[in-house]
Amino acid sequence: MSDPVTLRREGAIAVITVDNPPVNALKHAVRAGLQKLFKEADADASVQAIVLACAGRTFIAGADITEFGKPPMAPSLIEAITDIDNVSKPTVAAIHGTALGGGLEVALGCNYRVASKDAKLGLPEIKLGLIPGAGGTQRLPRLIGIDKALPIILSGNPISASQALQDGLVDEIIEGDLTAGAIAFAKRLASEQLSLKRASRMEDKLTEFRKNPEKFNEVAAKAVGRNKGLKAPMAAVEAVKMTLSVPFEEAIKRERNMFIELLVTDESKSQRHAFFAEREATKVLDMPADTKSREVKQAAVIGGGTMGGGIAMCFANAGIPVTLIETTDEFLKNGLAKIRTNYENTAKRGGMSEADVEKRMSLIKGAVGLEGTKDADMVIEAVFEEMGLKKEIFGKLDKITKKGAILATNTSTLDVNEIANSTSRPQDVIGMHFFSPANIMKLLEIVRGEKSAFDAIQTAITVGRKIAKVPVVVGVCYGFVGNRMLHRRGVQADRLVLEGALPQEVDAATLEFGFPMGPFAMGDLAGIDVGWRIRRARGERNEVADTLAEAGRFGQKTGKGYYIYEKGSRTPIPDPEVEKIILDASAKKGIKRRPISKQEIIERTVYPMINEGARILEEGIASRPGDIDVIWLYGYGWPVWRGGPMHYADTVGLKHVRDRLAHHAKELGDKSLEPAKLLDRLANEGKTFASLASEMKKAS
Ligand SMILES: NC(=O)c1ccc[n+]([C@@H]2O[C@H](COP(=O)([O-])OP(=O)(O)OC[C@H]3O[C@@H](n4cnc5c(N)ncnc54)[C@H](O)[C@@H]3O)[C@@H](O)[C@H]2O)c1
Repeated sequence: MSDPVTLRREGAIAVITVDNPPVNALKHAVRAGLQKLFKEADADASVQAIVLACAGRTFIAGADITEFGKPPMAPSLIEAITDIDNVSKPTVAAIHGTALGGGLEVALGCNYRVASKDAKLGLPEIKLGLIPGAGGTQRLPRLIGIDKALPIILSGNPISASQALQDGLVDEIIEGDLTAGAIAFAKRLASEQLSLKRASRMEDKLTEFRKNPEKFNEVAAKAVGRNKGLKAPMAAVEAVKMTLSVPFEEAIKRERNMFIELLVTDESKSQRHAFFAEREATKVLDMPADTKSREVKQAAVIGGGTMGGGIAMCFANAGIPVTLIETTDEFLKNGLAKIRTNYENTAKRGGMSEADVEKRMSLIKGAVGLEGTKDADMVIEAVFEEMGLKKEIFGKLDKITKKGAILATNTSTLDVNEIANSTSRPQDVIGMHFFSPANIMKLLEIVRGEKSAFDAIQTAITVGRKIAKVPVVVGVCYGFVGNRMLHRRGVQADRLVLEGALPQEVDAATLEFGFPMGPFAMGDLAGIDVGWRIRRARGERNEVADTLAEAGRFGQKTGKGYYIYEKGSRTPIPDPEVEKIILDASAKKGIKRRPISKQEIIERTVYPMINEGARILEEGIASRPGDIDVIWLYGYGWPVWRGGPMHYADTVGLKHVRDRLAHHAKELGDKSLEPAKLLDRLANEGKTFASLASEMKKAS
């Protein structure tokens, strides 16, 4: 293998180039090469300045995370960066693509940074439950100030080159050839013989905070936001705080130790699991590797209601022209108006410019009638949830749409195979299940029908990514993966309330677990009337929910549901009237209410979801436990530091989950809580869902 780091000369400038495709990750050979060549260039009297550049599509995009957890190999990244920092000549990092994590830390070890204008710079470690571990928490605040550095470190989000220039993280934006620009920059430095600018020795940006520690706490609290109490954000704040009082060399050692301590936390393990699971979720095990996507240049969405409007926005946001189709001019006008209002609200909040609103609206055309789908390469149907109507529409689409167009349905509950069979081209039919609000929620369940062609699946994945979704391929069953599992939680939440808990207790335990919202607050948001109408049609009854609905308490939209909402507020306030309705419901059903612990609430709401996840795996509806985790992380706000339901089950132990489910099933005489076969087997064999994932991979 050729050397991943090389040195060449451009007159008096040494150009060190990293070439380690695909993203120039900092594997051992890269660290060693950097250390060796910077030293070599420093020792060469004819070199006046050094440029660090990268080949390929990006600057160093980060550490090699496959090396995490393996025995460390010298030089460590800290050692390599320290040696770069100690070079006695001007050093310039030339950044294109993304300088992330360890990559940015290397750039911070140089005296100057120049960047191409579309470059992005960031420290994403926090997203893996870690902190920058090679000086990032020390050099960045010293270079750009604590108030600017903390949000970068604590959000993990990259900033643009122009923002970096404003912040002082980048010294110049280079138009045209980056390396040539960086060499010219280095030549200027050499000729002007300026003193070296080492972030590690800079103190001036810290003085204000040293004088006023209260200000540090304020800035830190703001940057931490909702992540208070999580280990990595707390460690990041502590690390940055060291810049105020701990000498740089000592602080670097402590930062490293904090990084190592975080590596073994459940939080970080969960976040790293989520990271890899997301990348795996679109790998369809039986799909030939050379499967190509069909081209999608034009889309159509049928139905301009809640979902259709949001889906059309996703296409417009990605620059793909889309036709929104309704049954009448009036409905169409309403649908388009809602989309415009949505964009304008974003513009009002400063999220986009007025010009952007117009640009996106210009990509959304309206049409009445299905003829409007005839030029589309992908059609997404989002009409009422009625099988008869959907079959009629797909039958017509079969006659109207182009050969090879993807015909997708956004159904939540209907059988995608039955819909596909109402056409003469079931191979082109697929489910694309968006989540509400469709323009915001990241999850996209791609429902593979029994006849869906591989290239149709691949197209749905590619388009899903293009419109900024996280696609996960699943099979056909009632509710698919996410809602099928959610249903199990809902059943138990309702029972808990009848047995003795109050909605606010169930919601509080759920919030404490890490969800952004509890099941009852979620019910109020979605509307209690939706389920009530469905149950009425089926002759079923949910005592509490239906009594609320009958009293006109539909949830947030009527200002009252399981909670009361003050005008204009979304904050749920517990209501004694609801407590009375609940007590009456228990009495009516002859249930003697009892105190219910937080632990029972979690075991009864979270474990049944895991159990259903196991059944979903048994049936092959999901291909990997990680896929289920991704669905819950992106579709339902599962806390990322708990990794998703299946990963979480592994952390508490499958035997424990199985035993507690069996216990509750027996105590309550509730057969739906009996452990799934797969869960039982894995628990008996002392295995985990992660080990099952490896078994499944080997078998494929
Ligand atoms: N609302 C959700 O949270 C959600 C989430 C995921 C999936 N879904 C699914 O998405 C679909 C749409 O749900 P929704 O909540 O947007 O419903 P909705 O009632 O808000 O909108 C449906 C729209 O379809 C239009 N429509 C009906 N027949 C039509 C036809 N023949 N041609 C063109 N337009 C027609 C209606 O005029 C209406 O505007 C359903 O299948 C639903 O199960 C809904």
